[in-house]
Amino acid sequence: MSELSPIDKAKFVAAKQAMAYVKDGMKIGLGSGSTAAWMVKCLGEHVAEQGLNIKGVPSSSRTAALAREVGLDVISLDEARWLDLTIDGADEFDGNLNLLKGGGGSLLQEKIVATASDQMIVIADASKAVETLGSFPLPIEVVPFGWQTTKVLVEETLIGMDVLGRKVSLRMNGDAPFYTDEGNHILDLHLNRIGNARQLSLVINQIPGVVENGLFIDICDVVVIGYGDGRVEVRDINQGSIDETRIDFVETENLFADLSD
Ligand code: 5RP
Repeated sequence: MSELSPIDKAKFVAAKQAMAYVKDGMKIGLGSGSTAAWMVKCLGEHVAEQGLNIKGVPSSSRTAALAREVGLDVISLDEARWLDLTIDGADEFDGNLNLLKGGGGSLLQEKIVATASDQMIVIADASKAVETLGSFPLPIEVVPFGWQTTKVLVEETLIGMDVLGRKVSLRMNGDAPFYTDEGNHILDLHLNRIGNARQLSLVINQIPGVVENGLFIDICDVVVIGYGDGRVEVRDINQGSIDETRIDFVETENLFADLSD
């Protein structure tokens, strides 16, 4: 593992540990982002090694491409209807396992997939653990029609909210606005601290041009936290347990050859 950074090792061991939740016959939601990309690779290898029958529902076009690349059987959420498990990354998680997500711009499909699952597991390196959500800018997905009016409405709404910053910026892709897989834009809310995430999530979603926000409240069941030295901590909110284990990995050529994320 010498060429991997400590952060990538942490992401990898978290992803690897999450394979303990994968059972034959499952339909699994596949998250997006760099940690989820490790998970998709681990899952591809795990399914091939164990000869499992697993169907994967990707939460972004990028994840779909990677899942196919590693040989997973990819189906749509409409084909699956309901999922046994979703495994995804997060930009932040707090002590109640509430999440802030959408740094990669896939929050809408991620939230739909996670909500349609019996269980959602987040895999993350330890830097994603926070006491209070909001240091990472909160992404909200807005329809392009009238987005500037929506932005003003969001700014006005934030005045009454328990937050420490109120700057709102349109996410860009170079010189042009960023488009999500659903053809929408992303507004990033620079709040610094979100005092009441549940309330903010409900209020923001009342604004007509807002499709969804990146706060995942009461959706995540388990967080698997990886460390650069191979340690893994598993926090289960339903069982109220915190377990620690260690992954003694060997560098397998397939998995580490071409990390594309
Ligand atoms: C994408 C997400 C990702 O899960 C989040 O941004 C974490 O990404 P990474 O694992 O690359 O840190 O919500 O929309």
